Amino acid sequence: MTVYFYRDRFVESGQSAVPIEERAYNYGDGIYELVRFDQGRPVGLDEHLERLETSAAAVRLRLPFPLAKIRAIVVEAASRVEAPVVDVYFQISRGEAPRVHAFPEAEPVLALFAKPGKTYTDEFRRAGVSVITVPDERWSNCYIKSLNLLPNVLAKQAAVEAGVYDAVFVRDGFVTEASASNVFGFHAGTFHTAPAERGILNGITRRFIIAAIRELGLPLCEERMSAKFFEQEVEGAFITSTTMDIMPVCAINGRVLPSLAENSPVWTVLNRMRELSRGAGLSVG
Ligand SMILES: Cc1ncc(COP(=O)(O)O)c(C=O)c1O
Repeated sequence: MTVYFYRDRFVESGQSAVPIEERAYNYGDGIYELVRFDQGRPVGLDEHLERLETSAAAVRLRLPFPLAKIRAIVVEAASRVEAPVVDVYFQISRGEAPRVHAFPEAEPVLALFAKPGKTYTDEFRRAGVSVITVPDERWSNCYIKSLNLLPNVLAKQAAVEAGVYDAVFVRDGFVTEASASNVFGFHAGTFHTAPAERGILNGITRRFIIAAIRELGLPLCEERMSAKFFEQEVEGAFITSTTMDIMPVCAINGRVLPSLAENSPVWTVLNRMRELSRGAGLSVG
């Protein structure tokens, strides 16, 4: 069961036809967020809304409604879906206008869908997922959560065709992130992840994980991780996103990583991160 919102109201599937000259459609001219509700409680909603504002400002996009109203629509959408875990995807485009590149005189448009979220069993996580590395051919402003995801689509397809779960981007010899998630490595007792620079999306889950690692007093190296280090040396790795939490990696370009023990630091961080992200009012800004 999916709930849709378009422009100014909730609509039935099929009533939400998008005009052909809509800038999200023609140019990918817009931004988006995806927030998860777990047992009715949003995970990191403040952080997602704040990132939406950051993305909007970065591409000079006016929000169609005040943030409080967008929040209320997101919460209302989630409440209309009867499922223990609900994902709400919402995007804002620069609107409908005759197709010319420069900003048109148009009203920005909110489009949203909410549906039951996919969850993974601990058994699935324990087995982990395999990844390949691919060249990061995206633009240099990946901190903006823009609708332009063609390189991400191509990277994920390359992974599927290689028979693995996901693709990890490498730019100038360093790991940036994965096709729809952030990447962490684990080596000699230290967690490694790329710093939140312009070239990666500063994932909300990433922030919860960093908060968990710090709170547990475990070493964290938030510096660029070379592809060689990631591909050849890390003893453990995981990818992180709103829809996956932490997903352990079991193989990188065919190099098999040792399976994770229940008492390993990665599992400890996973469990603590879940508690933190579900805790009321935690800010990981
Ligand atoms: C490219 C990319 N990096 C990282 C993430 C993880 O972000 P978050 O944890 O906020 O879901 C996503 C999520 O969609 C993404 O698309």
